Amino acid sequence: MIKISNVSKTYNNSIKAIDNLSLNIKSGEIVGFIGLNGAGKTTLIKMMTGILRPDSGSITINGMDIVEDALDAKQIIGYIADSPDMFLRLTGYEYINFIADIYKVPLSVRKKRINDLAEKFNLLDQLNKPMQGYSHGNRQKMMVVACLVHNPKVWILDEPLIGLDPKSALVLKNMMKEHAKSGNTVFFSTHVLEVAEKLCDKVAIINEGKIVFYGTLDELKGKYSKKDDLEKLFMEVVSHE
Ligand SMILES: Nc1ncnc2c1ncn2[C@@H]1O[C@H](COP(=O)(O)OP(=O)(O)OP(=O)(O)O)[C@@H](O)[C@H]1O
Ligand SMILES: [Mg+2]
Repeated sequence: MIKISNVSKTYNNSIKAIDNLSLNIKSGEIVGFIGLNGAGKTTLIKMMTGILRPDSGSITINGMDIVEDALDAKQIIGYIADSPDMFLRLTGYEYINFIADIYKVPLSVRKKRINDLAEKFNLLDQLNKPMQGYSHGNRQKMMVVACLVHNPKVWILDEPLIGLDPKSALVLKNMMKEHAKSGNTVFFSTHVLEVAEKLCDKVAIINEGKIVFYGTLDELKGKYSKKDDLEKLFMEVVSHE
């Protein structure tokens, strides 16, 4: 469960990226986070994961405050950043091991977990090569493996499907479904409305730093007139408020 209460964030004393935003994300649900470029998705995700500090308001992850109990809260978060271009001089294996060290994943379970995940995402032949030589999609997938290596309960993913081939995207989508089904929280941003429609229990739509809709797709379709076309619905929501 993620509880976001009255959170605001302004950059450089001028751009109000997040404006008094509140949102409760229950365990057991996949929530898709959608909004125009610059709407505030990455900013909110960075505050949810403790990378950025809110100017005001608070965020708890399974009851732990991300600022006050940062270490405990971060221990249960799996985060995928919006860009996979980090630590490129390391091999995939070194990078994943580095993350596994930080999260204190016991050596006894680590090897099998890395192997299983790498196999699922067709990465076995990449593990021992430096990441700077990877294709974009393989970099992204290595970030996914590193995110999951410590078996986090709460998944907070910033555009996790970008660049993944259809097979790998399907693997990740199925993992997201399974994870939520086992009672965990999955929150991810995407620009692909079809993904949001097919995968998510609920969608949160953000516009200019405010949540303008939060609910199921059926509720969204019931609320606005252009019932079947998700693109038109989305346009209506972000232009209404
Ligand atoms: N480091 C920063 N310094 C100053 N302004 C920033 C910074 N990061 C984001 N912003 C501004 O904050 C607002 C929200 O940006 P954010 O990256 O959160 O949007 P987003 O919804 O993730 O967009 P996208 O769909 O393009 O990823 C934008 O106006 C952006 O220009
Ligand atoms: Mg973003």
